[in-house]
Amino acid sequence: MKPIAILYSTVDGQTKKICEYLANHLEQSHSKIHLYSLDEFYEEIPSYHTIIIGASIRYGKHNEIVERFIKENRQALEKINSAFFSVNLVARKTDKNLPETNPYLIKFMKSIDWKPDLTGVFAGSLDYSKYRFFDRLMIKAIMKFTNGPTKTEKPIEYTNWERVKAFAENIKSLENKNRSNSLQEATA
Ligand SMILES: Cc1cc2nc3c(=O)[nH]c(=O)nc-3n(C[C@H](O)[C@H](O)[C@H](O)COP(=O)(O)O)c2cc1C
Repeated sequence: MKPIAILYSTVDGQTKKICEYLANHLEQSHSKIHLYSLDEFYEEIPSYHTIIIGASIRYGKHNEIVERFIKENRQALEKINSAFFSVNLVARKTDKNLPETNPYLIKFMKSIDWKPDLTGVFAGSLDYSKYRFFDRLMIKAIMKFTNGPTKTEKPIEYTNWERVKAFAENIKSLENKNRSNSLQEATA
């Protein structure tokens, strides 16, 4: 079976960590998982069974390379199984942690002409010690505005790993869908 590619766009590493978790989980059922930073991915998309793209939010947006990659490869992406997820801190709120309720994911999906088979949203992490002065000020302001902590003694990881695991399980069901498509093609 063709491999699965997991592509990440990260700044502080949380999206990569989520992608590594997905890779470990999917490895149990799929022997070949390739993990790439999105800006280092130059492979042929049709050589993959599934492509999963994960990207974090900074100042309200995913990195522009995410949208560019999807726009440039939309047709190829539509022919294979695909999943997209966003990582942000707004998703720590229970009323904003679903694809249907997370404002960044909703806006992003409206901005691109691509419908992945699966979408997800995960809360990221907060670590003031990592941020530069200006970023720290801005994040503090955002957190104050959304009733979050404006100080941290150590990093706070809001990512709910059970939900990441459930996302991985849903990706596995996409594999089943793909297999049945191949069967249909073979018997047509
Ligand atoms: C400079 C900066 C800006 C951010 N802007 C937002 C934002 O606008 N909305 C939000 O929900 N989270 C925001 N975040 C939180 C990140 O999305 C969160 O920390 C995530 O875990 C980062 O993932 P990464 O480590 O993969 O880059 C911001 C974080 C930083 C450092």
